[in-house]
Amino acid sequence: MLPQKVPTVESGRVRLRPWRLDDVGVVQSVADDPLIPLITSVPASGTLADAEAFVRRQQGRLDRGVGYAFAIALRETDEAVGHIGLWTQHLNEGRATTGYWMAPSHRGSGLLTEALGVLKDWAMAHEEIARLDLFVEPWNEGSWRAAETCGFVREGLLRSWQRVGDEPKDMFAYAITR
Ligand SMILES: CC(C)(COP(=O)(O)OP(=O)(O)OC[C@H]1O[C@@H](n2cnc3c(N)ncnc32)[C@H](O)[C@@H]1OP(=O)(O)O)[C@@H](O)C(=O)NCCC(=O)NCCS
Repeated sequence: MLPQKVPTVESGRVRLRPWRLDDVGVVQSVADDPLIPLITSVPASGTLADAEAFVRRQQGRLDRGVGYAFAIALRETDEAVGHIGLWTQHLNEGRATTGYWMAPSHRGSGLLTEALGVLKDWAMAHEEIARLDLFVEPWNEGSWRAAETCGFVREGLLRSWQRVGDEPKDMFAYAITR
């Protein structure tokens, strides 16, 4: 059974753990990212108050039935460097979805791939999840390469699947199934 609290799971260099208020720095560091504030509730303002509100929203996700919001932390220092979620609104149909971002300062060193591997292994160890979905824009090669390394299979292109900013965007559908 999936747990009632956000757990801590770790492997290699990364630890997935609950968000804490002292993680606000990483939220502020992605406020000016061209994509993250458009596809998440990360505030583009970069203010401390808005970053704290983001953290509180993550802390409330499970109680509101949305799913598990993890900070991706470095195992060595426990510093938060990114975000990954397991969203469970369609769990009654056996499906969950993941999504993630990394701080620019920590991209390109395989950390996201490790974090996604940890999330996938943890999620798929729960029998309620028969299928783990991931939706990625075709240009976002860093994201879909990480997904493929972790065993996600591309199933097709979903046209105008998701509004990003003001525009409906095509998305590759990736999934892992049991
Ligand atoms: C997508 C994102 C999470 C990738 O993080 P990352 O730390 O660069 O990922 P990794 O270091 O684990 O690299 C993943 C793979 O992508 C490749 N890669 C990374 N950046 C790339 C780029 N700009 N173009 C092409 N390939 C890239 C890496 O070489 C690696 O592939 P490999 O293992 O086959 O060599 C990060 O760029 C990000 O946060 N982007 C903004 C938010 C976002 O796009 N979220 C995902 C939405 S679906």
